[in-house]
Amino acid sequence: MPASIVVGTQWGDEGKGKATDALGDRVDYVVKFNGGNNAGHTIVVGGEKYALHLLPAGVLSPGVVPVIGNGVVVDLGVLFEEIDAIEARGIDTSRLVVSANAHVITAYHTTIDKVGERFLGNAKIGTTGRGIGPAYADKMSRLGVRVQDLFDEKILRQKVEGALELKNQLLVKAYNRKAIAVDAVIDELLTHVDRLRPMVADTSLLLAKALDEGKVVLLEGGQATMLDVDHGTYPFVTSSNPTAGGACIGSGIPPNRMDRVVAVVKAYTTRVGEGPFPTELLDADGQRLRDNGGEYGTTTGRPRRCGWYDAVIARYTARINGVTDFVMTKLDVLTGFEKLPVCVGYRIGDTVHTEMPMTQTEFHHATPVYEELPGWDDDISKARSLSDLPDNARRYVETVEAMTSVPISVIGVGPGREESIVVRSLV
Ligand code: IMP
Repeated sequence: MPASIVVGTQWGDEGKGKATDALGDRVDYVVKFNGGNNAGHTIVVGGEKYALHLLPAGVLSPGVVPVIGNGVVVDLGVLFEEIDAIEARGIDTSRLVVSANAHVITAYHTTIDKVGERFLGNAKIGTTGRGIGPAYADKMSRLGVRVQDLFDEKILRQKVEGALELKNQLLVKAYNRKAIAVDAVIDELLTHVDRLRPMVADTSLLLAKALDEGKVVLLEGGQATMLDVDHGTYPFVTSSNPTAGGACIGSGIPPNRMDRVVAVVKAYTTRVGEGPFPTELLDADGQRLRDNGGEYGTTTGRPRRCGWYDAVIARYTARINGVTDFVMTKLDVLTGFEKLPVCVGYRIGDTVHTEMPMTQTEFHHATPVYEELPGWDDDISKARSLSDLPDNARRYVETVEAMTSVPISVIGVGPGREESIVVRSLV
């Protein structure tokens, strides 16, 4: 049985949790393959709202094995806090498996993330401050601490000492902060060892065996395509690869075992943090999208920047990820708007681009070219098939679908798990 990938299309917060959760009954393994506790899934199950940051959404589905893959950076304190919080609400997390090769976020990563952003001033990225970038930087610099290192105290000490040597110079001399003590970092990490040990496995081997046995494996990307460090709006991106290629790297499952690539796209666009956003609305319509859609960050509580749907980005995402299906979320949020502009190209200077422009400078200067679609007023949250939708809502979906030539297989019409229109099954 092949594996399927779920990715975000825009700048994150598209509602991927809802998509993976909707698949939960058929899925045996849900693998988080990138990012860390910078992610934020809000999932509503049976009227109960769950905010997950680090745990894969599959943890809420009984019988699913949630896996934290090697591509993830793990803050162990946050992991156990999140486990405790959902266990207290009656959710069983005992099936969770963590890759021995996943990297660990330590206190120095979060410190450097925060002071580094402050140091950048106006040029800041607007990170979540969770230590994600510095942890991935250490991974690439071969100064990282992996989950497996916690089981060998001597190695752990060597690695933490190695990582802190330069960082303490930086903290003290460049950032004017106190040095971080090696022992304090090690002591904190070691407090997690006993609890962590039984969860840790060679997850690429585990997943290969699962696929051999015909199990259904779902790979769940954190963040989204436009935040990909290679394919997104660099440098205003996260430090990992949330795209389909990243799913192979971050799980150890090779490309020829992947089958469907499901991209989750909001019926409009949002972004958190800094960086270019051509269809951003700084007016009352933007505020209305924010209010109707509850567009405030799950992780940081920051108000999200809101704007109209961007078909150039959807087409780009379809190409970069090899998307086989779109899941469109939050169509209900558009209810009540008289007109719904959809971005079909960017005007840059005298030229209209229908593909993502090649350079950062061009993208910063892009102004959207809109096609205006008529809105609808009727409540659509009870719609369970395309024919239940008002004509203009159906037209909206069909028009944006035609713009990417990839089918929209599921349409979200409300926050609940059951509030969806399934046009074609994803598994
Ligand atoms: P970092 O991932 O904390 O380094 O932040 C880098 C950029 O990615 C910032 O603009 C964040 O706001 C953004 N970002 C990171 N994670 C998410 C997410 O889950 N949803 C939306 N934006 C995110």
